[in-house]
Amino acid sequence: MEKREFLYEGKAKKLFRTSEAGLYLVEYKDDATAFDGRKKGTIVGKGVVNNQVSAHLFQLLERYGVPNHFVELIGDREMLVRGTRVLALEVVVRNIAAGSLSKRLGLEEGLVLPEPVVETYYKNDELHDPLINYDHIRVLGLATPDEVETMRSMALRVNEILRGYLFDRGIDLVDFKLEFGLSEGEGRLLLVDEISPDTCRLWDRATGEKLDKDRFRHDLGGVEEAYAEIMRRLIG
Ligand code: TMP
Ligand code: ASP
Repeated sequence: MEKREFLYEGKAKKLFRTSEAGLYLVEYKDDATAFDGRKKGTIVGKGVVNNQVSAHLFQLLERYGVPNHFVELIGDREMLVRGTRVLALEVVVRNIAAGSLSKRLGLEEGLVLPEPVVETYYKNDELHDPLINYDHIRVLGLATPDEVETMRSMALRVNEILRGYLFDRGIDLVDFKLEFGLSEGEGRLLLVDEISPDTCRLWDRATGEKLDKDRFRHDLGGVEEAYAEIMRRLIG
């Protein structure tokens, strides 16, 4: 397997074709953005942490039967993934109020929700990724009703698995964002993108300290240290 031509650059990753049909190489960058790209910076070593942590969590989910695009790690900041058609949706699961939920519903940050909340957002830069409901998804043709149901149940299953796994490592899983794609050929729903401190809120269970991208978003300092701590607790 060889790295072939560059295909696409996103805010946090680059995508390359490989010599093998249907397999792609993802390179994780240290670039960090927040608030729709209005805030820009660098988190030294983030690409390595997010690549390793995502690989670790995708493998964990695979063992629990949650299909995802991860194939193998091929470098510090590079992984091999299966090709998919990525849906223009972000699925967020929340266990504790924070971020946009706190703002939208006036809930105090840290309030433990009586049950997990699943939200869907339309991935559209011009519209600033608005919150949308299942009727909007159908009308926009972003996914079929069956796919919507499957994504919801997969997202709740991922929440159960990750919540327990992180709890055992002294971390509260506050919320996280998932993306889904349809596999090339069969059109099967797979988890794609990444699962990392960029896409999850992770709080130390003992101290409540934030160990995720909120340190960068809100200039809390100790950003690199937080990412390194998550890698240490998950991978050692
Ligand atoms: P929010 O509270 O800002 O809506 O974020 C919810 C979760 O989704 C949080 O864990 C951060 C993650 N997230 C992303 O991964 N990408 C994004 O663009 C946004 C806005 C949030
Ligand atoms: N990654 C997103 C952006 O750059 C938002 C975020 O994670 O806060 O806009």
